[in-house]
Amino acid sequence: MKKNIALLTGGYSEEYEISVKSGKVVAGHLDHDLFNIFLIRVTEKRWIYLDEENQESEVNLNDFTLSIRGEKVFFDAALIVIHGTPGEDGKIQGYLDMMKIPYNTCGRVTSSLTFNKFFCNEVAGRFGVNTAKTWYLHERDEIMVDEILNFTGLPCFVKPNSNGSSVGITKVKQAEDLLPAIEKSFSVDSETLIQQFIPGTEITCGIYEKDGKLVVLPLTQIISHKEWFDYEAKYTEGLADEITPAPIGETLSKECRDISAMLYRKLNCRGIVRFDYILADASFEEKNRFWFLEVNTIPGLSEASIVPRQAANVGISLKQLFTDVLNETINNY
Ligand SMILES: Nc1ncnc2c1ncn2[C@@H]1O[C@H](COP(=O)(O)OP(=O)(O)O)[C@@H](O)[C@H]1O
Ligand SMILES: [Mg+2]
Repeated sequence: MKKNIALLTGGYSEEYEISVKSGKVVAGHLDHDLFNIFLIRVTEKRWIYLDEENQESEVNLNDFTLSIRGEKVFFDAALIVIHGTPGEDGKIQGYLDMMKIPYNTCGRVTSSLTFNKFFCNEVAGRFGVNTAKTWYLHERDEIMVDEILNFTGLPCFVKPNSNGSSVGITKVKQAEDLLPAIEKSFSVDSETLIQQFIPGTEITCGIYEKDGKLVVLPLTQIISHKEWFDYEAKYTEGLADEITPAPIGETLSKECRDISAMLYRKLNCRGIVRFDYILADASFEEKNRFWFLEVNTIPGLSEASIVPRQAANVGISLKQLFTDVLNETINNY
């Protein structure tokens, strides 16, 4: 029996279009002999399925079904390919838990935890991973500029606690730029982090699970041609080089892959997850160490995205990758 799969794309964040792109790639590479794919766009108002004849049907969220030409469609699993809220932060996971539908991503708690950079940093630190010194601010808190800068030093990074794609982030170099940067971050999120700057090179590690075993992909080094990996560098051709496998030598590669595999298990992750670090350079007090930046529990999945290219580097096709993840989802439920 072919399984009915709800492929959820879109979402509420700036990453809507990127998600739609990822979704089309996933739909195009899934094994259509095994799965009936229903490509659904999630918006704040409605969840819409568009069939081949461009006929719209709205998902009935009371029982997570579709009615297509009078026939009710039930789903065997959901494939969430939504970057940011509500797909990466535990909201849809909670809904699907209640509907008793298996899904491809980390569970509700892990998704919420990893989407909250401050909480995730604290937990990663608890497992012995290096994390940048971080000052937490809520909108209601008094902003004590001198204390903050004493703690983090300059330059520092100011970022929204729960967001993505570098939106709302500023690298602050002078004390007088701190307040405007905090204001900018608060325009995106009611919680802001001010973080010690870690100089070095960015390294990222993709992992997924197959037959209960971790597949740790080769690392990628990201070299931004902007000062840091900002929105423009992330989404403009030619503004960043992504080198796979990262040319950092066996020992460091193994260390990073081991840290990532440990975090995948300790954070109780599921599905395709990407761990981001900065490998500190000689100008930092602790050089040649990996500093944890964040976890992406729904990383980009278009052909040009990092994880698909890491997989391609070791001969794993997109079809294989997505089929493995979906089978793991269904078999382990
Ligand atoms: N503490 C830091 N030190 C140095 N660079 C940082 C630091 N924090 C963030 N960055 C830079 O900002 C980028 C985005 O930060 P990140 O925390 O990953 O947020 P996002 O979820 O928006 O990707 C990173 O890829 C890196 O280039
Ligand atoms: Mg990031």
